[in-house]
Amino acid sequence: MNILLLEKIHSVAARALKAQGLNVTTVNKALAGDELLKATRRVVALGIRSKTRVTANVVANASNLLSVTCYCIGSDQVDMEACTERGIAVFNAPYSNTRSVSELTLGHIIMLLRGVIDSNNAMHQGTWKKSANHSHEVRGKTLGIVGYGHIGSQISVLAEALGMDVVLYDIREALAMGNARRARTLKELLKQSDVVTLHVPDTSVTRGMIGPAELRSMKKGAILINTSRGKVVKIDALRDALQKKQLRGAAVDVFPDEPGSNGPGWNSPLRGLSNVILTPHIAGSTQEAQKEIGSSASAKLIRFLADGTTTGSLNFPQMELPPLERRHRLIHIHKNVTGVISHIGTVLKRHKINIEGQHLETTDKLGYLVTDIDHSVKGELLQDLNATPNTIRVRVLF
Ligand code: NAI
Repeated sequence: MNILLLEKIHSVAARALKAQGLNVTTVNKALAGDELLKATRRVVALGIRSKTRVTANVVANASNLLSVTCYCIGSDQVDMEACTERGIAVFNAPYSNTRSVSELTLGHIIMLLRGVIDSNNAMHQGTWKKSANHSHEVRGKTLGIVGYGHIGSQISVLAEALGMDVVLYDIREALAMGNARRARTLKELLKQSDVVTLHVPDTSVTRGMIGPAELRSMKKGAILINTSRGKVVKIDALRDALQKKQLRGAAVDVFPDEPGSNGPGWNSPLRGLSNVILTPHIAGSTQEAQKEIGSSASAKLIRFLADGTTTGSLNFPQMELPPLERRHRLIHIHKNVTGVISHIGTVLKRHKINIEGQHLETTDKLGYLVTDIDHSVKGELLQDLNATPNTIRVRVLF
């Protein structure tokens, strides 16, 4: 089985795949156009990061392709519909950088409460200004966490270990870690927090959720951290609140408009403000996160190829399957319409197939039928299964 890994995916991925006997080719850059079409023609699995665009055309030209694995968090670069229509499973590696975001958030909180940004700027300008004024420990301060999912809840644990009191706000009934307390409303959280940190997704509700009114609700001299998504905070309102000293500092890692590539020319209303840390969407970008992405995405791909397990797929029904162990496994991927299963049943009966186990899961669009049988699959059976109306793809695992 040929696997192609593009875009300098962490070496842990190729090692894991090779250890399974898979034939792995790595390319250290993104591919596009004819180069991508040629490279993917014979591969069963393609691994990409965020720059390679897997279009309907790419998918149509790669007739052996069983999976596209995004070794990153997002999957916008993949034409999901085209993959689904052709029975290609798409995987990604969400949550692999949870720890990285959590650590940087805590680092920001300490730097801002100690006024390190101002001290650092003064020192670089040649000014020695030793003072304890406006410099605080984090111990005993109240941290308000908005969005208590993977990142928010991990920060909660780490912040309590530093002696902070944690209050959380989430639309979900998220289980509070340690001694964290739940606020009933966002306003209630904003009113009591010395530091507010945002960890919500970008949704129609969260977009602009921190605007002038919310910033006014915060304690005077509080700190705001945003490592979530740029549009969650109204950036002009944040600038005003910082200039008027309503807030004493902020750290912002995500922006409403982020450039697609590195280079000069970046601008923001927050540039030039003192006690504001600005970083280019790097909260989750560490070597450890890349390694974690490499191993967690490969683990999903390996299971999918080896036994058909689809757990974690973005476009396939979720199915956790036992290892093969001397059985033969038929995987029938079809359009989720009436009559397919009975048709397959008829074909199996006609070929006198003794079914040892069968599992079916569906999504709106796809049906994923796995049949374990006691003898190997003959060409004729495969032909008949492939000829079943609404079949997208048939896989045989030995
Ligand atoms: P998650 O999905 O595990 O948690 C999000 C939480 O927000 C959920 O508990 C959800 O119920 C809650 N939520 C949704 N809408 C809400 C609302 N209106 N009010 C209050 N709570 C709400 O997500 P995860 O992994 O913790 O990520 C959080 C954010 O961090 C995401 O926006 C993600 O894109 C961003 N992120 C940023 C990175 C960076 O490099 N700066 C890296 C990784 C994630």
